[in-house]
Amino acid sequence: MKDIELILGDALVWLEKIPENTVDLVLTDPPYFLDKLDDKWSHEEVLRAKSSVGTVKYLPVGMKFSPEQAVEFGKWFSSVAYKVFRILKPGGWFLSFSHPRLFHRLVCSTEDAGFWVRDIFLWIYTQNQPKAFSLEHFLDRTAFPPEVKEKLREELRAYKVPKVKSNYEPIMVAQKPPEGTLLENFAKYGVGLFNVKIKQGKGMFPSNIITTDSIDEVMDRYFLIEKPDRKEKGAFNDHPSVKPIKLLRFLIELTTKEKALVVDPFMGSGSTAIACKETGRRFIGIEINKHYYEIATRRLKEKVSLFE
Ligand SMILES: C[S@@+](CC[C@H](N)C(=O)[O-])C[C@H]1O[C@@H](n2cnc3c(N)ncnc32)[C@H](O)[C@@H]1O
Repeated sequence: MKDIELILGDALVWLEKIPENTVDLVLTDPPYFLDKLDDKWSHEEVLRAKSSVGTVKYLPVGMKFSPEQAVEFGKWFSSVAYKVFRILKPGGWFLSFSHPRLFHRLVCSTEDAGFWVRDIFLWIYTQNQPKAFSLEHFLDRTAFPPEVKEKLREELRAYKVPKVKSNYEPIMVAQKPPEGTLLENFAKYGVGLFNVKIKQGKGMFPSNIITTDSIDEVMDRYFLIEKPDRKEKGAFNDHPSVKPIKLLRFLIELTTKEKALVVDPFMGSGSTAIACKETGRRFIGIEINKHYYEIATRRLKEKVSLFE
């Protein structure tokens, strides 16, 4: 096996080809089944979905709320979690980014697959577009009497659909149960504890709150992880959901030793691959979309050439 292996294919198929009990960490950012970002991401669909946000011709993509979404997501994620469970070493880690609207299902599916859910980390950031929109322009299409319309029109200057600006992402921290005690497991498999020499902010003990934006003195002192370098994404990278490498490095270094094997079944533009290269971990990444797989390959090639 190469130290870093990128695979073009379906995670649900390829996870089955990884031998059981061999992986130290599965670190991933799965498709959210929102904004058409399901398990059949088409690059064109994603771009169309993104560009339609903000135009209010009909309920814009990503603004529709469907109560079934989380349930459907949970069912799908359950099949992922069982496959991840098989390949992890005892005591191995399963870390997954999630969405505030879906993460309860992600966590329950993971627990149902046999994992111990140890924590939920919060990645906090200050920048994001509010996506709540006004319903005022729908009033004219209603059959409400004129006096009701008038009253509502006034109120709808303030009231919008129930969506605040989203400024955090939850990260599930789950563990495959260890064999024996944590200490016995660590001695045998080299995984299952946290490396607390990894610091945040001004040399602080690692915390379950992480920020990659400078916020103020206190937040920065305790929770800041170095801000992303503007160039790290690559000018050619048009993936809509690229994670900061420093954040991934923090999670990898906290949970694994050098040369550990890390898997990202939903690799996207390959940010986890770069973080593994930078921290001396081995890596297997799977991506179903050829366009994103090619971006990941190019990003990694550029990174490897810096190391040679
Ligand atoms: C949220 S993105 C990951 C972005 C990544 N963290 C980055 O920094 O670029 C999820 C990725 O999963 C991919 N994907 C969706 N379903 C998949 C499947 N069944 N197997 C493998 N990849 C899949 C999508 O194409 C998408 O690129």
